[in-house]
Amino acid sequence: MDRIEALTGEILTSIANAADEQALEAARVSALGKKGVIAELMKGLGALSPEERKREGQRLNTLKDRVTEALAERREIIKRQALEARLASETVDVTLPVRPEPRGTIHPVRHVYQECIQIFGDLGFTVAEGPHIEDDFYNFTALNIPPEHPARQEHDTFYLRERADGTRKVLRTHTSPVQIRTMLSQKPPIRIIAPGRTFRSDSDQTHTPMFHQIEGLVIDETTHLGHLKWVLEEFCKAFFEVDKVKMRFRASHFPFTEPSMEVDIGYRRDGNQIRIGEGDQWLEILGSGMVHPNVLRASGLDPARYQGFAFGMGLDRITMLKYGIPDLRAFFEADLRWLRHYGFTALDLPTLAGGLS
Ligand code: DAH
Repeated sequence: MDRIEALTGEILTSIANAADEQALEAARVSALGKKGVIAELMKGLGALSPEERKREGQRLNTLKDRVTEALAERREIIKRQALEARLASETVDVTLPVRPEPRGTIHPVRHVYQECIQIFGDLGFTVAEGPHIEDDFYNFTALNIPPEHPARQEHDTFYLRERADGTRKVLRTHTSPVQIRTMLSQKPPIRIIAPGRTFRSDSDQTHTPMFHQIEGLVIDETTHLGHLKWVLEEFCKAFFEVDKVKMRFRASHFPFTEPSMEVDIGYRRDGNQIRIGEGDQWLEILGSGMVHPNVLRASGLDPARYQGFAFGMGLDRITMLKYGIPDLRAFFEADLRWLRHYGFTALDLPTLAGGLS
């Protein structure tokens, strides 16, 4: 057996044995590379007679072709095997049960947030959102709270640094600016809720610098105070999961509504428990009213044609009421023992059909 024949066997074997891309590349270089065995033999051709050179040259070229072909075939096989190995190792068994005891819990406020979305969603409301860092215009001016209005002081606003044009952004002090953003971006009829975070520089047992509100807004050509009362009553019955609820609508004042009402809910103490919807004690849960003509105007709507109501409710407050949580500050202390006690199972989403709490 001559050198070329022996070499053919050797090279093809090394290719066939290459287990991965790297080994295959090494085999290629040693056979076909500039300093590879075939190149070496090519160099030796010069010493041969013309006839021998032609014959041996042809044999070497044939060898090159076979090697090239074998490399390509082997490369395909290696690729396929690598893919199969990956597919086999990366499978996920979707039939496995979830961990029997999920460690994390859903925060009560987040749970109530979802409950509210379910209830108002059922009444035909969609969810609207706005930024936490808000322009003074949306947070105050457009809501009929001009620069020197006393309500600005009452809000304990967090102001951001003054900008070049002299204006300052604020951390929104309520969810009401979402009313303006909604009216400016969509045409009536409008029926939205806007749950989210709000911020005020205030801290004691019933106030935290960050808290949650849910805003409601309905705008069309006919909606009136009666609709507002009905919606709030339906909400309270669904939320507190009672058939009848005692509510009191008290005349009040907000710059962005006229007339304005604060809404109290009746309750009774039963030992340590609070019974919502009965008794003769009152708890304030929200502010509301008919949207002020100035607010409609600031939002590009003609008050002669459009009207509607708005309300704003403290989410933390109604969470405390519904789930009997005494201290607001505990909501934001991230104490795991508290979260395990008051938190909700992660996969247990509230629905009207399946139950809220
Ligand atoms: N924005 C008010 C607050 O934070 C709550 C409020 C009252 C919202 C009346 C409303 C409303 O939409 O109509 O104190």
